[in-house]
Amino acid sequence: MKTGNRGRLAILISGRGSNLQAFIDASAGGALAADIAVVISNNPDAGGLRLARRAGIPTRSIDHRDYPSREAFDAALAAEVGQRDVDLVILAGFMRILTPVFIEPFSGRLLNVHPSLLPKYPGLHTHQRALDAGDTEAGVTVHFVTLELDGGPPIIQARVPILPGDTAQTLADRVIVQEHLIYPLAAQWLISGRLQLTDHGACLDGEPIPATGIDYSPGASSGAPTEPG
Ligand code: GAR
Repeated sequence: MKTGNRGRLAILISGRGSNLQAFIDASAGGALAADIAVVISNNPDAGGLRLARRAGIPTRSIDHRDYPSREAFDAALAAEVGQRDVDLVILAGFMRILTPVFIEPFSGRLLNVHPSLLPKYPGLHTHQRALDAGDTEAGVTVHFVTLELDGGPPIIQARVPILPGDTAQTLADRVIVQEHLIYPLAAQWLISGRLQLTDHGACLDGEPIPATGIDYSPGASSGAPTEPG
């Protein structure tokens, strides 16, 4: 049940959980007025499960390999999330493609973080693809999840430069710093009622969000400061 006016989140992970940790920190530090009701992983060995347990958050493993189809897995996932009375479902490095069985019941309160400047590079290996294409910048997008893979309306993007000598790993290390900043912020906007998914796309404070999301790049007018103070 809700505590005061705080929201309740379910966070779905598959791996190490650094975005999960950013949510744990934002919740504890006051930047996010929400509590994490449950962390669910499709991978029983996900490092993020340990982070959640350390923070005293209930965890569940729902191993997709135990289910005969994507739909059957999604039904189990939806049942587990459904009984937690959550306001928002956060995909934080959750590496399973979801079907309508999960997406439709949580439409408008289901967010994902994707490590590219969508609509560029949906899917996997985003950083290597940006390097191979000779791009001069890369980044991250937080977006609403719809039936189109990595295709739901963007909410926030943050760009970073691609530097000489970058590898997929050095680029990922630069991008993930921005992921940890913008993802809890988007969740806070939704929890506080500022952010909505409408028939016309994502809206913040009743205004349509641009097609590539609000620019929260370091140094952008709406973004994170690059200089101290
Ligand atoms: C993050 O970079 C996230 O953007 C990406 O997986 C990583 C998870 O890291 N997600 C996707 O690629 C989804 N298509 P984390 O486990 O440390 O949060």
